Amino acid sequence: MIHLERLTWDNYDDVLKLKVAKEQKEYIVPNSDSLIHAFFAMTENKAQIFPFGIYLGKTPVGFMMIARDVPWIEQYYGSPAKYYYIWRFMIDKRYQGNGYGKEAMLQALDFIRTVPPAGEAEYCWLSYEPENTVAQKLYASLGFEERPELYEELAEMPAVLKL
Ligand SMILES: CC(C)(COP(=O)(O)OP(=O)(O)OC[C@H]1O[C@@H](n2cnc3c(N)ncnc32)[C@H](O)[C@@H]1OP(=O)(O)O)[C@@H](O)C(=O)NCCC(=O)NCCS
Repeated sequence: MIHLERLTWDNYDDVLKLKVAKEQKEYIVPNSDSLIHAFFAMTENKAQIFPFGIYLGKTPVGFMMIARDVPWIEQYYGSPAKYYYIWRFMIDKRYQGNGYGKEAMLQALDFIRTVPPAGEAEYCWLSYEPENTVAQKLYASLGFEERPELYEELAEMPAVLKL
């Protein structure tokens, strides 16, 4: 029932309204800010950004933004030609705890493995606040491995998965 839909003129408004719980606001910026960040990453840094709504049938339940060729990531992680980066990921507070986040991540990984929107890659990276144990466990269950040696420079915990 869960699927990803590219953000378009037709659906962006509903997806931008989705919100995390108050105590989760330190883990992610509002979705509208993410799109503004995407604009600057694309226009100023020549990054490739792929924003998606996460849908349960016709109902938008979350947001995900996948990135490629992000210069400030390259400086930490190595050549941008070899990976995708899950830059933003959230499930609205009303829909959390139902398995939708995990299913959305599985579909995102399947998507970048099978129909990579900016060419094939070897790795998928992401990062999270170390106290965000729900995200940490979810990513670990999918095979992401933490890279604590990069933590201090990034001020977030990076983790990587071989695609
Ligand atoms: C992280 C997030 C996307 C997970 O989405 P979700 O739909 O709630 O996750 P799921 O229902 O698929 O659950 C995934 C796992 O986390 C567990 N989990 C989910 N919510 C939990 C909670 N509040 N407390 C403890 N465990 C929880 C589930 O039991 C499940 O574990 P399992 O696979 O062992 O059964 C969601 O919590 C969120 O949007 N958080 C705020 C934003 C955020 O932190 N984004 C990530 C930034 S890196």
